[in-house]
Amino acid sequence: MIETERLSNDAAGLARAAALLRAGGLVAFPTETVYGLGADATNDRAVAGIFAAKDRPGFNPLIVHVADLDAARAIARFDDAALRLASAFWPGALTLVLPLKPDAAIAPLVTAGLATIAIRVPDHALAQALLRETARPVAAPSANPSGRISPTTAAHVAAGLDGRIDAILDGGPCPVGLESTIIATMPHPTLLRPGGLPAEAIEACLGAPLLRATDAATPTAPGQLASHYAPAAALRLNAATRHPGEVMLGFGATDCDFNLSVAGDLTEAAANLFGHLHAADATGKPIAVSPIPDHGLGRAINDRLRRAAAPRD
Ligand code: TXA
Ligand code: MG
Repeated sequence: MIETERLSNDAAGLARAAALLRAGGLVAFPTETVYGLGADATNDRAVAGIFAAKDRPGFNPLIVHVADLDAARAIARFDDAALRLASAFWPGALTLVLPLKPDAAIAPLVTAGLATIAIRVPDHALAQALLRETARPVAAPSANPSGRISPTTAAHVAAGLDGRIDAILDGGPCPVGLESTIIATMPHPTLLRPGGLPAEAIEACLGAPLLRATDAATPTAPGQLASHYAPAAALRLNAATRHPGEVMLGFGATDCDFNLSVAGDLTEAAANLFGHLHAADATGKPIAVSPIPDHGLGRAINDRLRRAAAPRD
């Protein structure tokens, strides 16, 4: 348990919240949709902390929050449709899934290793002020324990996460109360999640109907929409040692090529997971992985490794 600070909607509260985020802390903050559980999106360790605090059994990619379109364009590549939607609806309850720029300093855990990133500009004065003062992209899922409903007041956040996060910035109730609408624009504008911005408004802006994520015409290749990074190489789980020709992804004090955490720390291992998987995959060899304890963040790590190891075409 840690002491969760209650921060009020004033200059001191804002300064403290931004300082905590910049130092790698977890801060719940209000947006117009729901409260988000924020962490510095450039800091792997901080982002891993989000999954630990929420007790998430898997690594869903997270939405990154920025103050304006310029900040978003530094991170993601916009096509014409994305630019049109951003101009019409940002700041607001619209999240765009776009190609991640290779040079953007985003922690791989934010995107769960994908080549795309979900990004939005919230329409909430306190969230805006916090993003400007933090001066970093902030990754934030809804600020509730996994499997519970999304919080729309600071009291909801406290009920679920008190003692598990560094601070709650209290900005009163969220005006929209429903998560953002998620759209991928490439290759075709597609509704990935209905939410606070009606799909009709988006279709009117584009002058064309949106594909639904369930449409037959929608690309369903792994990683395309459904958010599963899979290495090209075969994965062998629960490996005590590497076989000849394998590259070894280790955990704990063990002989290996890439170590998720020498100290056997699951938060550190989560922070390193996607970066090390990409690095191991880049060797072109089959990958052997040490056993990972199946508790806490270890469950999320094992879930991801099992998916990565599953037979595929
Ligand atoms: O209103 C909201 O969107 C709130 C506030 C805090 O901004 N945030 C929120 O985040 O609802 P979260 O983590 O609960 O939902 C993020 C969802 C993921 O479940 C995933 O489906 C989708 O966004 N997502 C994120 N990155 C993606 C990607 N690269 N490709 C496809 N889907 C992605
Ligand atoms: Mg959620």
